[in-house]
Formats: sequence, C-alpha cells, structure tokens
Amino acid sequence: MANVAVIGAQWGDEGKGKVVDWLASRAEIVVRFQGGHNAGHTLVVGDQTYKLSLLPSGLVRGKLGIIGNGVVLDPQALLDEIDRVAAQGLKVTPDTLRIAENTPLILPVHPALDRAREAARGAGAIGTTGRGIGPAYEDKVARRAIRLCDLAEPDTLSAKLDELLLHHNTLLRGLGAPEFAKDELLSLLNGWAPRLLPFAEAVWERLDEARRANARVLFEGAQAVMLDVDHGTYPFVTSSNTVAGSAAAGAGIGPDAIGTVLGIAKAYTTRVGSGPFPTELHDEVGRGLGDRGREFGTVTGRRRRCGWFDACMVRQAVKLGGIQGLALTKLDVLDGMPQLRVCTGYRIGGGEVVRRLPGAPGAQAAAEPVYEEMEGWSGSTRGARSYADLPATAVKYVRRIEELDEAPV
Ligand code: IMP
Ligand code: MG
Repeated sequence: MANVAVIGAQWGDEGKGKVVDWLASRAEIVVRFQGGHNAGHTLVVGDQTYKLSLLPSGLVRGKLGIIGNGVVLDPQALLDEIDRVAAQGLKVTPDTLRIAENTPLILPVHPALDRAREAARGAGAIGTTGRGIGPAYEDKVARRAIRLCDLAEPDTLSAKLDELLLHHNTLLRGLGAPEFAKDELLSLLNGWAPRLLPFAEAVWERLDEARRANARVLFEGAQAVMLDVDHGTYPFVTSSNTVAGSAAAGAGIGPDAIGTVLGIAKAYTTRVGSGPFPTELHDEVGRGLGDRGREFGTVTGRRRRCGWFDACMVRQAVKLGGIQGLALTKLDVLDGMPQLRVCTGYRIGGGEVVRRLPGAPGAQAAAEPVYEEMEGWSGSTRGARSYADLPATAVKYVRRIEELDEAPV
C-alpha cells in the first residue's frame, strides 16, 4: 500500500501544501476530500508561487487532480482559480482535473449567510473565512444542496432552487440581510454548467481503477484535526471532518485505501480565527514568531495568533487523526531563541493535570498549559537536510516532540 493521506495536526497552516507538493512527485493522483476554498495552500515551484484553494496541489506537478464529494465547491471560485493559474502557465482541463458529480455547490447565498451570521454573533464570532463553507455543509446534511450533477437537469435545478431559497431567504430576512432572486441564481448556474460539467464524473470508478492498477493516490487534507467538526475545539471549528478517516467517505473509496497517514505540524503553534488556544503568547515572543514565520492567512490575510508548541494537543491529534508519522515544519523560525517551551498537559481549574483538551468550552478556556522548558539553539537550521546538520539542542527538541506525541518525526 503506497497511498498517503496528509492532514494537519494543529489548527491549519502547518505547511501541508509544501509537503503534498513534495509527495506528489511519487503519486499519480492527488485527491481533495473535504473543505473548500477556505483552504489556502501555497506552493513555490521554481520561480512561480501558486496559491491554491480548491485545486488539488498535485496539478502543479502534472498529476491528475480529483475533487471528491466531501468538498464543498464554489463554482465561481474554481473557475477564477483555473483562470488565475492559467495566467501562470498551468492549464487545467478535464484531462487533468476530475470532480465528483455528487459534490455539493456553494452558491452566493452561502457566503451571504455565513457573513450575516458572523456579524450577528458580534464578539462571539467564530472568525470564519466568510466563504460559505458552514452553510453549504448544512445544506448538504439537510438534503437541499445543489450538486454538480444537478447542473445537467434544468427541472431538478429549478425545484431545488425553490427549496433552497425558501430556507435561505427566510434566514437572511430574519438577519436583516438582502434576499436572493431565483432568476439570478438560475442564470448563474446555467452559465456555469457548460464550463463545469465536462469535469464531472463518478470519481469512485476512477479511484477503483487506480486501486486495481496499483496507482499511487495522495489524499490532500485541508484545515486540521483541531478544526474537525467533531473532534476540534467546537464550535470554533470548520464544518467538515478533517481527520484521515474522512478521506474515504469524501473521495468514495474504502478506508483500507487511505494507506499511510502523515500529520503535518509546525514547530510552534498558530491559529487564525477565534477559539481556545492554551499556549498562545500575547507578548513580544509571540509577535516575534509571527514576524519571523510570516504568519498571515493565505485566504483572508489575517494575522495568525502564535504560541509555543503544544505537544499535548498534537498527541491528541495523532490519536484522533490516525497519524502514523509527523512532518515538522518551520523549525528555522525558532532559530536564535535562547529558551523554548513545550506544553505537555493542562492543569484544569488550578488542580488536576490532564493529557487531553477537555470537550466543554468552559473547561477548554480554563485549561492552563503545563510546560517543559527546553534549551534553544543559536545556529541556523535553514537548509538542513539531515539530523547531522542540526544543532544538538534542535535535535533534542525534535526527539522530545516524538516522545511526547508518540509518533516519529
Ligand atoms: P470556516 O471553515 O470558514 O467556516 O472557518 C471556521 C474556522 O476554521 C475559522 O476559525 C477559520 O479561521 C478556520 N479555518 C478554515 N479554513 C482554514 C485554513 O485553511 N487554515 C486555517 N484555518 C482555517
Ligand atoms: Mg492554509
């Protein structure tokens, strides 16, 4: 079994795109299985920087890209992205990209509702990317989503739009936001149809063929385990399952096809958006990490919150996500810091120490990190290609993370 799934082991932005790009050279197919254009994967290839949100990263390496049914697909965002990369010399055609015909679509009603609800939450906002991800998944589960294959059936589209608008306009009206007209959405959908339908197919058949031909498949996760709708810091999460198990259902293949699960973690921690973050640093040290690590969101440009490496949380992500090995990124951002800290557990309410982030929001907010102090290093780790190239204390830092997280780095 040579397939690999790559998932985030923290709150996203661990550098999954870079690792997927590196692994893509050994794969024939790269599959996105959850999330949507809330993701931002930055790939630097030669003199080009590609910022991908929906397109599977393997496309850049000439591999077949598949968007699975577990994704929520904004047609306009996809077409814009295809045009954008075309301007960089990367041609995306139905020969290089296939999209599951049963993929639910994001329509303009979804970001409108996403933003209206965030505005109504005020100080309690989740800090979503405002892309309509949550509302689109809600519609899927509520069985009123318009899916890619519906674009080929005008009668289905018309009836589904009636149901969709009854629901969304009622909510938008209640929130004091502008409503949507059926004609407008119908003409948008009809405009997208001829450009999108050539990409649509039953991708499960292609994946089954790939399995029988022993073709290597790379499953490209978006977001991260701590943003998982079940296992993350709910409600400050995204609306999909981000664990490796999600790759099977979100692509249309059995769980045995997932293969090795690689978790990506940053050598410190970042988070964008609201929600608990036990090891967050509000001081110069945190700002330093953000500046040196250039921690600004790819999608929204927001400044990311920064803090110490939380080994307790990553251990939890390893267990929940099915992670068999970790790739640790951005170690060089820690270069020159004399003293480092690693969180090994949480003290709850000043008393008991636990090795798990509690489930309830109040308990999560009250979880105080318990730290282990570690010596930093003064030399540079940039460009190191083996452990022998790293300062001894940097090796110690990585080895300690392996121990605490019960996964090899
Ligand atoms: P949504 O996915 O837009 O609904 O946002 C929900 C939460 O997930 C917010 O805290 C976002 O900042 C976060 N989020 C969503 N996508 C990403 C990502 O690709 N990287 C990091 N955070 C993300
Ligand atoms: Mg990102």
